[in-house]
Amino acid sequence: MSLHVVILAAGLGKRMASTLPKVLHPLAGKPLLAHVIDTAHTLNPEKIHIIYGHQGERVQEALAHYDVNWVQQTEQLGTGHALQQALPHLNGAEWVLVLYGDVPLISTSTLSELLRVSQPNQLGLLTALMPNPTGLGRIIRDDANAVRAIVEEKDATNKQKQIREIYSGILCAPRACLENWLPRIERHNAQAEFYLTDVVPLAIADEIQIADCITTQASEVQGVNDRWQLAELERVYQSQQAQRLAMQGVSFMDPQRFDCRGELKTGKDVTIDVNVVMEGQNKIGNHVRIGAHCYLKNVTIGDHVVIEPFSHIEEAIIQNECHVGPFARLRPGTELAEHAKIGNFVEIKKTHVGRHSKISHLSYIGDAEIGRDVNIGAGTITCNYDGVNKFKTIIEDEAFIGSDTQLIAPVRVGKRATIGAGSTLRKDAPADQLTVNDTKQKSYPGWKRPTKN
Ligand code: UD1
Ligand code: CA
Repeated sequence: MSLHVVILAAGLGKRMASTLPKVLHPLAGKPLLAHVIDTAHTLNPEKIHIIYGHQGERVQEALAHYDVNWVQQTEQLGTGHALQQALPHLNGAEWVLVLYGDVPLISTSTLSELLRVSQPNQLGLLTALMPNPTGLGRIIRDDANAVRAIVEEKDATNKQKQIREIYSGILCAPRACLENWLPRIERHNAQAEFYLTDVVPLAIADEIQIADCITTQASEVQGVNDRWQLAELERVYQSQQAQRLAMQGVSFMDPQRFDCRGELKTGKDVTIDVNVVMEGQNKIGNHVRIGAHCYLKNVTIGDHVVIEPFSHIEEAIIQNECHVGPFARLRPGTELAEHAKIGNFVEIKKTHVGRHSKISHLSYIGDAEIGRDVNIGAGTITCNYDGVNKFKTIIEDEAFIGSDTQLIAPVRVGKRATIGAGSTLRKDAPADQLTVNDTKQKSYPGWKRPTKN
């Protein structure tokens, strides 16, 4: 059966009180609409169409990397009118699934179940039981429990408003039926809109069977109309994600204080302390401990690594047995070879640090190549930038850099060289030698401290 998915996303989203189109608001760092498109893809449809309206260019630009067909609805005249815009684009489709761009947590399994229960020649409706159904379309059933209609809140009688089964907005139908029904929908209702829900009486009149699938997961069909609902769904998403990771071998000190906006691949026995935030693509090996309040973005971490609290790490590679932090800042292009140790208040950028090398306190190391078994003393600074260009610092194996050293790049420190504390290196330091450029130390006998006037 050839399936097309149509995602309705032309609504204004006024209640977001935002200049950003609603479907571009991020959930777990990804636009709402992108969540829906990704889920739609898992059903292997032949085509995905997106009905857009408000700020369409901005939405298309943000989601340009998706292989979807954009269909404009110039005036937002209702869900029935929105789906009608897709009709000329459904060539070859036999079966059509309708999703909403602002219902981000709908799952593949629920959609598969809806498609399974509704044979391709039936109208399939996804419904849900809601503790608070206010504002949503109510499912009206007859004595035989068959669906007779969907009544919008604004058109409902007080008695109908008591019904807790609601229409999720998600349906599937044969394309031929939609071709027939959509042009026949009228706007005789409280909102003078073309209601897609009016396909129900048309299906009944045409003797097309109506199948339904009731989901018990309210969050799956929860739409985002305002930022509070968005925040609530963010929590649902994060909690589901933490649960999945826990099942794969991650211990959370508190799963409610963990946020992953992107993808995380982990090994076994990973421990994540509270308030850790991850973004982008992160990969963590086995037996890794991430301390409290760390931020990781696009980081690859090997096995037996410890990241101490308050570390901020972005686009870095950290190999096995490294120790990082607390209060470390690893910027893009940092590579730590096995057993490297980075201590507190150390900033590293575009630098390879060799095996067993240590930068333990208060340093800035940028655009550098550091060999193995190097020890970099407290307060060492690579002066890599002259205000216009960047230059490299090379420190060879087993070198020892005394505290408070400035390395004015380009500069090279040879193998096993020792740099005396407080030096300012303007020229290369040869291997195996002590290099110092100290100013002479003087003492003034008899000198008195100034006194207050
Ligand atoms: C609709 C259903 C209601 C259901 C509810 C679930 C109808 C008439 N009502 O309510 O039964 O319980 O969804 O959330 O269908 N959209 C367009 N173009 C339009 C209008 C809407 O693309 O002209 C899109 C919106 O962007 C949104 C979706 O359709 O993604 C639903 O619109 P919304 O106004 O939120 O839903 P209701 O019509 O209130
Ligand atoms: Ca509406």
